[in-house]
Amino acid sequence: MSYLPVQQLLKSGSVGTDVTVKGWVRTKRESKNAIFIALNDGSTINNIQAVAEAGQLPDDVLKLITTGACVAITGQLVESQGAGQSVEIKISNVHIYGPADPDKYPLQPKRHSLEFLREIAHLRPRTNTFSAILRIRHALAFAVHTYFNDNGFFYLNTPIITASDAEGAGEMFRVTTLDATKPPLSEDGKVDYSQDFFGRETNLTVSGQLEGELGALALGKIYTFGPTFRAENSNTTRHLAEFWMIEPEMAFHELLDNMNLAEDFVKTVIRYALQHCEDDLAFLDNRLQEEEKTKKKEEQSAMGLLEKLQFVISNEFERLTYTEAVEILVNSKPAKKGQFQYEVSWGVDLQSEHERYLVEKHFKKPVILTNYPRDIKAFYMKQDDAPATNARGQVFGETVRAMDVLFPGIGEIIGGSQREDDLDKLTARMQEVGIEPDAIWWYLDTRRFGSAPHAGFGLGFERLVQFVTGMGNIRDVIPFPRAPKQAEF
Ligand code: 4AD
Ligand code: MG
Repeated sequence: MSYLPVQQLLKSGSVGTDVTVKGWVRTKRESKNAIFIALNDGSTINNIQAVAEAGQLPDDVLKLITTGACVAITGQLVESQGAGQSVEIKISNVHIYGPADPDKYPLQPKRHSLEFLREIAHLRPRTNTFSAILRIRHALAFAVHTYFNDNGFFYLNTPIITASDAEGAGEMFRVTTLDATKPPLSEDGKVDYSQDFFGRETNLTVSGQLEGELGALALGKIYTFGPTFRAENSNTTRHLAEFWMIEPEMAFHELLDNMNLAEDFVKTVIRYALQHCEDDLAFLDNRLQEEEKTKKKEEQSAMGLLEKLQFVISNEFERLTYTEAVEILVNSKPAKKGQFQYEVSWGVDLQSEHERYLVEKHFKKPVILTNYPRDIKAFYMKQDDAPATNARGQVFGETVRAMDVLFPGIGEIIGGSQREDDLDKLTARMQEVGIEPDAIWWYLDTRRFGSAPHAGFGLGFERLVQFVTGMGNIRDVIPFPRAPKQAEF
């Protein structure tokens, strides 16, 4: 049976024609003369209203039209009498695909808490909020591919199972087929991974960058867009154990090119969402405004969601070095009053409270921080020629050509750098931080044969979706979140 998506029907359905729609009942309302069904099929946040005369539908069918039931409705598309919609369906037939026992169906036509919806993640896509988020997530993913395709990048698929730890962070999920209760042991009593599936220790990847670099030094410009895994035990609103990362890598790009690309890229995909997800964003904007009203005055955010997105795409990001940022932080009110939880001085890794101070209080716009201390960044970042100094000529320490993009309400959304392309400097650095060069001989080969300046970055896709949807918790912008003690669905 042919049917029309509700989205298409509401946009361009012609009044007077017979149509069929299929979807899930949001509400059923009965008045003296008529029955009103609000149907949603997920193609748009908007429902289509279908109307039957009182007594028209058999009782056994009527009884099964409850919130959550899946039905097909056929009838004539007519101009709507009521407010709220331009067209509606004058029902001639209702077919019940799957009823939803109203005593047991967990979703009711009222506002449920996000915490409760997380417990029923298998059903939450049927709510307005989550269907809006998922459609926006799709649009952003599509915009990512479009952006890179339009700009001459090739989509490179990097491995998910890997024997290297790209970030040197060591927080990885092991992949093994060995029997956990009695693994084979070698003579020194350690697990003998030579007997494992791959004949060596393997893990889920934390980043596709190292392989991405191999691609860039052959194809020129590549990007990855795939799942990444981190076993950090951080139960925050910004961390997932499984998240999607977009990692462009470009030959012949230096730090400044990298920054320019990152800024243009993130603005372009946000602009795409503004242009293509109007209804969904308007809904989330509204939802957020309601939520803001329940907060204390001083905690309410100055801008609405749409305003904030417009602001970000129409203003230049602030760019400064780590050393300049530390200077600002050390002299800030919260530092002087002892209001930061973590102390800040040159050399420390900035905490999210520091990043948020810079973005939300000091500059009031996205910020790109560059040239971080070498010791707090990954081994592959290109070393700066001279140590950092401040305006007063004070000398600090060695830095690398790193860049982090910080966003309001999110903190770090992008992390990247120019890469060390000098073989000797790179291997020396690896030895300093205890990475065996032989373990990634293939990576070092790019520096041995036809090395070139290159740069890239990683955007956490869920953090982007969080920013665009205004959702406070990262677990609410991925269909089925993975976090410590959370892998039910
Ligand atoms: O800063 P990160 O660790 O950088 C890299 O992995 C580099 N290899 C990227 C590159 O240069 N190609 O991670 C990049 C981004 C972060 O800025 C953040 O947005 C996101 O990935 N991210 C997470 N998102 C959700 N949950 C987590 N646990 C995340 N860890 C990082
Ligand atoms: Mg980072």
